[in-house]
Order: sequence, then structure tokens, then C-alpha cells
Amino acid sequence: MGINGKPLGVVIGVDGTVSQIGMYNSSNTDEFIWNGELLKGPRVGGLIAIAQNDIIIIAKIFKEQISDMQNNVKTMEYDNRFSYGSIKRFLFLKTQGVIEKDKFSITSQYVPMIGNQAYLVTKKELKAIYGISLSKNTSICIGHSLLDGWAIDLPINHFFASHIGVFGNTGSGKSNTLYKLHQELFRTKYLPEILSHSKFFIIDFNGEYIESHLFDLPRINIKTFEVNTRGACRLEAKIPVKKSYLFDPEILAILLDAKPATQIPFLRSAMRKYNNEIYGNEKKLATLSAGLLVSLLKNYKIAGAFSVELWYRIAESIVTNSDAISPIKNLAQKLSYGNAQAGENGEEILKDGELTQKGKELISQIEEELRVSFTSCRNDIKKLYYFLEFEKIYYTAWNATKIEYLNPLFKRMESAFRNLDNVISLCDDINDEFASMNVISLVHANQEMKRLIPMLISKMIYDAQKDKSSSSKVNHTVHLIIDEAHNILSNIEKNNGDNWQDFRLSVFEEIIKEGRKFGFYLTVASQRPADISPTILSQIHNFFIHRLVNDNDLIMLSNTMPTLDRNTYQMIPSLGKGEAIITGTATSMPILVKVDRELDNHPTSDDIDLISLWKESPR
Ligand SMILES: Nc1ncnc2c1ncn2[C@@H]1O[C@H](COP(=O)(O)OP(=O)(O)OP(=O)(O)O)[C@@H](O)[C@H]1O
Ligand SMILES: [Mg+2]
Repeated sequence: MGINGKPLGVVIGVDGTVSQIGMYNSSNTDEFIWNGELLKGPRVGGLIAIAQNDIIIIAKIFKEQISDMQNNVKTMEYDNRFSYGSIKRFLFLKTQGVIEKDKFSITSQYVPMIGNQAYLVTKKELKAIYGISLSKNTSICIGHSLLDGWAIDLPINHFFASHIGVFGNTGSGKSNTLYKLHQELFRTKYLPEILSHSKFFIIDFNGEYIESHLFDLPRINIKTFEVNTRGACRLEAKIPVKKSYLFDPEILAILLDAKPATQIPFLRSAMRKYNNEIYGNEKKLATLSAGLLVSLLKNYKIAGAFSVELWYRIAESIVTNSDAISPIKNLAQKLSYGNAQAGENGEEILKDGELTQKGKELISQIEEELRVSFTSCRNDIKKLYYFLEFEKIYYTAWNATKIEYLNPLFKRMESAFRNLDNVISLCDDINDEFASMNVISLVHANQEMKRLIPMLISKMIYDAQKDKSSSSKVNHTVHLIIDEAHNILSNIEKNNGDNWQDFRLSVFEEIIKEGRKFGFYLTVASQRPADISPTILSQIHNFFIHRLVNDNDLIMLSNTMPTLDRNTYQMIPSLGKGEAIITGTATSMPILVKVDRELDNHPTSDDIDLISLWKESPR
């Protein structure tokens, strides 16, 4: 293999993986012109190639030094120490690996030897080192290398078929990096196929990605869902949710913050009944509700007036015409005097603990009235609420649980269902409901929905993708992008039994552990990697690390990124805006890049210019 780089100096000392280079006097300038290209001179953090037979050893500069050759007694008496001819520059390098037959590998098989010549790495070598494909067809360029200024091309395959983590302090450029990465992907010639084979979902907590012109995609390929709990959403902005997901007791338990001792068992048993027998069958719901009233009347002594009263109250809130309920309702007053065979206008409704013919008639009128109301109600969430209210009576009338334990659940349910009704639209199948790029903005959502919606969507789209891919070859992919991921992936231990914690972890940990096989990839961006569950962090394949200063975050990263070397790691706190270290399975060595900023299109997360905001406006 021929060395094409500019010769810089000679190896003059080797100590394990550290070697020392004595630089030629002509190699100590900031920039060189070599083979028609303007190249940056070697500096700490940069790479150097050392030729040895037919291989090239690649080493990283971690220290430089100068020494005065005339002043070898090291006294201060000489005042000509820094004359051009007498000083020598030395570079100290750490061996990183070897390029052999145009391929870079990390190995300690080769060690530089005294007398080997050192060269500036060429662009071709750099690409081999960073494991970056040379072909423009299979890569995207998101920026320039910080030390050499060369365009950094990232391999599409290795990046987009992996879980990605973007970390950095606030304002360090994470959102822009996320955006740039995807924008460049959409600029490739693969766009038409990307749009038909892949779906992207952005969970956007701050409404940074909702501008319609973002991503330069045809309007038809972008859908923006603005979850707004402060006012009713437009229908097309409501999030399509598969019915079975909302009717899952685990999800409801999280939504309603149900307590494990009494409320969760109630939800589980009620929802089992609802899903198995009731859902979609209004007649059955009416029969069940009317049947409950009959049982309450028959067992009046045990069930008590309160339960019966409650039944009437609920029924009256459902039916449009409460006349059907009145005759039976009047009965309750008489029953309360211990007269179990009371009747309307002297007619008996209950006799010897059984309904009389008249009683049966009245009950079936009520049942019919309920059935009509249920059938005309097009709102599944409301219907579920009615069912659960009747179920509450069933559960508490015979003292299985005290109603005081369930009441708080229903208080929360009332507001949660109202919120939910505002922001989701229930459907049977979500396949056609989403576009290629879907932005789910939670900026106007309340805390409850911020917790629930990302998880609900993630679980739903993950399960759908899993179902699709497990039976056949993966020919569709889903890319879930969560900006400000600490909102939902935090590892802060809440008090035991917090359903949300358990469920959320199980959802996202499954996605990150198993998703790759099914073509489901997660991209998370966060300011606090230390707050994110270690299980999730440890499965991330590729990292973009922006400036981070907190020790906990840095330690967390150093523990989870095996590919990050000490020198690069030390640079993290001093990175500038938009500068990042890219490391992970897609590159064999960490790359320092300055991500290019999209000037026209970028997330709405700009720093605010206070001076221009405050400066006196012309009157
Ligand atoms: N690649 C870049 N080049 C130059 N400036 C950048 C770059 N990326 C971001 N910036 C600047 O930094 C500011 C913040 O960027 P960005 O919103 O991407 O940060 P962030 O890390 O997502 O912050 P937060 O954690 O608060 O969401 C922007 O106003 C932008 O001007
Ligand atoms: Mg951001």
C-alpha cells in the first residue's frame, strides 16, 4: 500500500501503545497544501498515519511538546532557546488501529517502531478509519469534521437501522442534529421508497417540529397531531388509537393512576368483562345494566338504598327520556320501609323476592330505553364510562369493595376520559391512519397526557410493526424519534407500585431490546442521559454527543459507550454549539463533527435574542 499523505516526521520513541514523533521542521505549520488540497496541520485530537511495511498504523495525538535542542542542560541562561533552528516539536500518539488492505481494524498486533515515518492521514484513510462508506449513494453528509474540516458522510444503513442516542446540555444543538439527520435522509434519491416503506414518528414535547414546511416533504406525507387538552382538537389533529389499546386495563390503570390494592383489581375484572362480553354489543350492555337493577331490588336489604339510588342516578344521566325509570324509582321509597312487595298504583312489582309480570314489563322498558341510548351514543369512551359506573355498583353493593375506595378513581376517570376524548379518535385499525412522517406535538397537553400518549402510541405502533414483521420478511420499517426523552424514559424511582413506571419500562425496554429484529428503531434525544434508564442507554447503537458538563451524565456515558476513548471523552464539556462526537457501531472510531445548520428549515428552538426583543421599537 502506498502512502499518499504528507510526511510529517519520524518515530523516535515507543512505550507500549504510546509513541513519540520527532517532527520535521517543515511540518509545523497550521495548514499545508498537499496534492492540491488544503490540509490542516496535526494537532491534539487529530490522527496520524505511520507507515510500516505494507500496513498503516493509525494513532491519535494526545500531547505535543517542544524542546530546545541547544539548551540541553535545561537552564534559563540561554536566551536563544526558541530560535527556529534549535527547537524541535514532538507529538505523542496513542495507537488506535491499523489499515490493512484499505480496511481499518482495531488491533494491537502492530506497534510503531523507531524510524517509521509518520504522515498526515489522507481523506481516503480517514473514511476507512471512520468506517464510513465512500459511496455517495449510500451515505448522507450532516457536517464537517471538526479538526480537519472534511465532509463527514454517515452510512445510511448503519445509522438508520440502529437505535440512536443524541445527548447534550440544553441549547447544545440536539434538536438541530436530529432534524439534520432526517432532512438529509429525505434528500437522498431513495425518498420515494422511504415514503412508501418507512414511517417516522416524532414525539415532540415542545412543539418544535410542527411547522408545516419542515422536512421538505410533500404535504401529503406529513401528519401533525397536536395534542391539546386545553381546547377541543380538530378532528384530523386527534391521534388515532386502536380501541383495544385504550380498553387495556394496564393502560387504563396508568391513565387513571389506579391504586394497586383495590382500584386495579376492579379495573382488571371490569375490563375483562367489557372486552369479552360487552364491547360492541349495546343490547348486552343494556341487559346487564337492567339485570343489575333487578338484583339490587331483590337483595335490597344487603345492597341498600344507596346502591339503588346510585343506579337510578346513572341511568337517568344516560337515557334521554327518564319516564321509563320513574315507576321503579318510586318503588325504592316503599322498599325502604321494608315492604319488599310494594307496587305502583297498588300493583305488585316484586312478590316473594321475584319480579311479577308487571315488574318484568317495567324492567324491560328500562332495558329498551337504555339500549336505545347506548346504540345512539357514538362515543366509545362515554359508553365505557357508563359501563364502569354500573360495574362500580355491582362491585360495591355486595361489599366486595367499599365504594369509598373506588370513588377517587371515578373522579379521575371523569376528567381523564374528557381529556382523552378531546385528543384521541378511536379506530379499529391504525394502518392507514398515519403518514410517512408523523409529528405528535405535546406542547399543549397536560401532564397526564404527556405521560400517557407517548407510551400509548409507542406501544401501539411497535405491536403493529411486530405483528407485521414477525410472520414475514421485514419490508417496512418504523422509526420512533423521541426528543426530550427524559420526560418519559427517566429512571427516577417513584414509590413502589407506580404502574406508569413499570409499564413504561416494559414497553420501551422491549422496543430497545427486540425492536431491531422487527425493523423498529428508536432515536432518543435528552439533556440528562444520567436520568435515562440504563437498560435503554446500554442498548443504543450510535451516539451523537453534544456538549455535556454534568459529571453524572458524563460518567453514565463513559459507562455505556465502549467505543469512546479517554481523549475524546475529555473533549465533551468543551464542545461548541452544534459540535458533536459521533460514536457507536456505525463508526469504528469516534468522529468529531460540526453539524451543519439548516438555515431555512429547522426546528423552532432558536435561542431568543433578548436585545432585539427589548430594543426600543420605532414609534
Ligand atoms: N449545528 C449548529 N450550528 C450552529 N448553531 C446551532 C447548531 N445547532 C444548534 N445551534 C444553535 O443552538 C441553539 C439551540 O439548538 P437546539 O434547539 O438544537 O438545542 P437542543 O440541544 O435541542 O436544546 P434543548 O435541550 O433545550 O432542546 C439554536 O438556537 C441554534 O441557533
Ligand atoms: Mg431540543
